[in-house]
Amino acid sequence: MRELDELDAEIRAHAGCGFEICAGATHIVPGEGSHDADVMFVGEAPGVQEDAQGRPFVGRSGRLLDELLAAAGLARSDVFITNVVKARPPGNRDPRPDEVAHHMPWLERQLTLIAPAVVVTLGRHALAHFAPRRKVTVEHGRPLVANGIRVVPWFHPAAALRNRKLLEALFDDARELPDQLAPPVRSSPSSPRSPSAN
Ligand code: URA
Repeated sequence: MRELDELDAEIRAHAGCGFEICAGATHIVPGEGSHDADVMFVGEAPGVQEDAQGRPFVGRSGRLLDELLAAAGLARSDVFITNVVKARPPGNRDPRPDEVAHHMPWLERQLTLIAPAVVVTLGRHALAHFAPRRKVTVEHGRPLVANGIRVVPWFHPAAALRNRKLLEALFDDARELPDQLAPPVRSSPSSPRSPSAN
């Protein structure tokens, strides 16, 4: 899709804003995958490998994500994979609210252009963007609707690499995904998605 290709180029060329994470990035990482994906995966931010290669989820977490996709009967080419924040925070620290707000228009445009049936959030930062009152420890694997978007929260693969119980839960949730691409889902009482909500 031409608009997504243009957005990809715009994000990669982004410079001069004065934000530390943008200025310090080797690559700003827009995300990648099918332009008419039914499922969009949204992680937190690029890590070292992603910053070096300019692609999302290509390190250890990415290898686990590939296995999770396979458990869900999906391949990378079927889905779109991106992050809330498109540049690596130094030292892999959490993205700051002003950095999330700075990058949020890009995610919003990706959501509008791809219009996935389901957004799978990876970890609490991504879930916080869509449904700030929800906790991934409670909600993982359970579809909800937040501001008209069907969201399925998952644990972050990096967290699951450190915790066997989370890993098992993540695979259970992945196996459920094919049945979750259609209603029924619960309505979220969460506040509106907006940069300032993060
Ligand atoms: N962790 C994320 O949240 N995103 C990536 O792209 C890689 C690791």
